[in-house]
Amino acid sequence: MKELRILLIVVFFALLTYWGVEPFAHSKMHKHVEDKNFAYSDLPTLSKVGDVKRGEALIKGAGACLGCHSIKSKGILAPMDPNAAASSFGVNPPDLSNVGAMLDERFLAEMIKNPVKAMKLEHKFDGKTRFFPMPSFAGAGGDRDQEVADMVAYLKSIASKEITPKEAYTASCGRCHANRYGKWTQIGFVPKTKSNIVTNQDVDLLKFKTKFAEYQSYLAKYMGKLPPDLSIMIRARSEGFMKTFVENPQSQLKGTAMPRVGLTKEGYEKVMSYLEETGDPSKPARESLGIKVIGFFVIFTILALLWKKSLWKDLH
Ligand code: HEC
Ligand code: HEC
Repeated sequence: MKELRILLIVVFFALLTYWGVEPFAHSKMHKHVEDKNFAYSDLPTLSKVGDVKRGEALIKGAGACLGCHSIKSKGILAPMDPNAAASSFGVNPPDLSNVGAMLDERFLAEMIKNPVKAMKLEHKFDGKTRFFPMPSFAGAGGDRDQEVADMVAYLKSIASKEITPKEAYTASCGRCHANRYGKWTQIGFVPKTKSNIVTNQDVDLLKFKTKFAEYQSYLAKYMGKLPPDLSIMIRARSEGFMKTFVENPQSQLKGTAMPRVGLTKEGYEKVMSYLEETGDPSKPARESLGIKVIGFFVIFTILALLWKKSLWKDLH
């Protein structure tokens, strides 16, 4: 009888922790955030239809975008190398070749009009004592909303239809997050070297590492801390966390310096498939092995059944 009572008490407390305490602690430590499916409904929809030609003229002229950004797909290189840019802005301004496909159009328009609001960084850049490095576009003399719509139309018209997961990652996260397994640093891919002999390539590698360290120190100063390497982040954080965090970093980490980057749903999925590729490189092999193992069991079961049948045949 005594044992039974002890057992009941143990079972009671086990169930209490399982149903009561654990979910409660979980909800305190990871608050539940609903994703908005990358709708960006806090930003206004574009009220004007953009004109590609006028947009091109603005991006290349009065918009002054090329004073800081490259458009490599059009042969327009960055005006500064990543380190010079980071020493002035804290971070290397991203290439604009594919933002028209990767980023939501409402986000893009707001990014041009009021980047601090688009990125949800009002707590960090008050516009009085601390200024965001990218200026708000004040207008080129005409209707500002029309001009913004024109620039968005141009950026959309030049964006590639086939963006690889790697390009999606480097363009939207890569200026802040390294990815060691993918050999990505914030200033580019690590140059290859021959490992066992000393060559000029090693000199290049050392130069690269020096630049990389220097870039990271500018970035850490701008962000308040060095953004974490993302190579295995996908294993540390749930899918729900990643989605809501990338969609709106403030929803999960109030006051964080990471900006909202404005990815579309497709853009986000591309970034995630790159993180899966680098963070769990054996996944495809594992999955194909799984199918082979199941196939083996199916064949084995059929053979075993046939064998059993042939054994019993003579006994009946
Ligand atoms: C004085 C430099 C400067 C100018 C001029 C400038 N930008 Fe930027 N831009 C930046 C910097 C720096 C960032 C990155 C800021 C960050 O991530 O904290 C940025 C970020 C962006 C992003 C964000 C991409 C993302 O991943 O979310 C877009 C889009 C963009 N700029 C477009 C433009 C366009 C279009 C123009 C012209 C109308 C322009 N920029 C003018 C410096 C500039
Ligand atoms: C302008 C710089 C910047 C960009 C661009 C950026 N991040 Fe971040 N990210 C940060 C910083 C800074 C932190 C550290 C945040 C903190 O601890 O407050 C961070 C943290 C993170 C974290 C860890 C959150 C945690 O739980 O600690 C993840 C995951 C992440 N970023 C994913 C991304 C992805 C995916 C992208 C691209 C779609 C991206 N970031 C783009 C600056 C950036």
